[in-house]
Amino acid sequence: MIEQSLAGRVAIVTGAARGIGLAAVQRLCAGGASVVAFDRPDADYSAALSAGRVAAFSGDVVKSSDWQGAIDLALTLGDKVDILFNNAGISGAIANAIDYPEDDFDRIMAINVRGVYLGIKYVGRCMQAQRSGVIVNTSSVSGFGGSGNIFGYTASKFAVNGMTKSAAIALAPDGVRVLALCPSPTATEMMFQLERRLSPSDPEAARPQLAQGTPMGRYGTPEEIADVLAFLVSDAAAFMTGALVPVDGGTLAK
Ligand SMILES: NC(=O)c1ccc[n+]([C@@H]2O[C@H](COP(=O)([O-])OP(=O)(O)OC[C@H]3O[C@@H](n4cnc5c(N)ncnc54)[C@H](O)[C@@H]3O)[C@@H](O)[C@H]2O)c1
Repeated sequence: MIEQSLAGRVAIVTGAARGIGLAAVQRLCAGGASVVAFDRPDADYSAALSAGRVAAFSGDVVKSSDWQGAIDLALTLGDKVDILFNNAGISGAIANAIDYPEDDFDRIMAINVRGVYLGIKYVGRCMQAQRSGVIVNTSSVSGFGGSGNIFGYTASKFAVNGMTKSAAIALAPDGVRVLALCPSPTATEMMFQLERRLSPSDPEAARPQLAQGTPMGRYGTPEEIADVLAFLVSDAAAFMTGALVPVDGGTLAK
């Protein structure tokens, strides 16, 4: 683990109860930050709460009022919000453009696009007033090329990339950095669910094929994504903004 000092920093992490978000909470706490762990009301916050100085916020990233609640909670942990890891997301339907159900399309665009937009808007406004802060959005390798069967997910991650670049340009004069992390398949419940959907009788049988698209031939781990996050939000990355950073075992090199 690369040590980056985040002592005294206050972070909001969405999708914080499990997977990449949970690893981020643990990594940020290990660096000395205090964290608001923002996830859904039905989420199990126990692992996040045991990571360090963590306050749980249960809500929905699609609702502006919940963002205000998360910011208010963060401001009880410190006098500003230094870090937003805008990470909550869903994988949505496995279908092409023609077959993609309209309700599923609306849902994935709500969580993966509107949710990220609201985080940038409300936490970004707060950071703009402070004249400091860093926002890291979770995109994906799916934000770089077409995919026949995850139409909504791909659309949503292209949108995250566009929002990242646009917000980075707009907020740079205010001292606020905006970046995106772009993982390849990572060993979390999101991928395990996909394995079960593709191969219900033997989910693990789907893994080699899913991992094959990555030159390193394996899934990433949530900790590997969180280590890069810790660098991006640290002062060591002070001159980085607007970048879409692959953490992908070489996938985007192809
Ligand atoms: N796992 C992968 O292979 C992979 C690869 C590339 C990108 N990503 C992205 O990484 C991010 C995290 O994914 P993960 O793999 O950890 O998934 P996950 O399903 O394990 O965790 C997602 C978390 O987000 C929360 N969440 C979902 N909708 C929410 C909402 N409306 N409000 C608040 N919280 C909500 C869930 O409750 C869950 O705790 C997502 O944006 C995903 O698209 C994942």
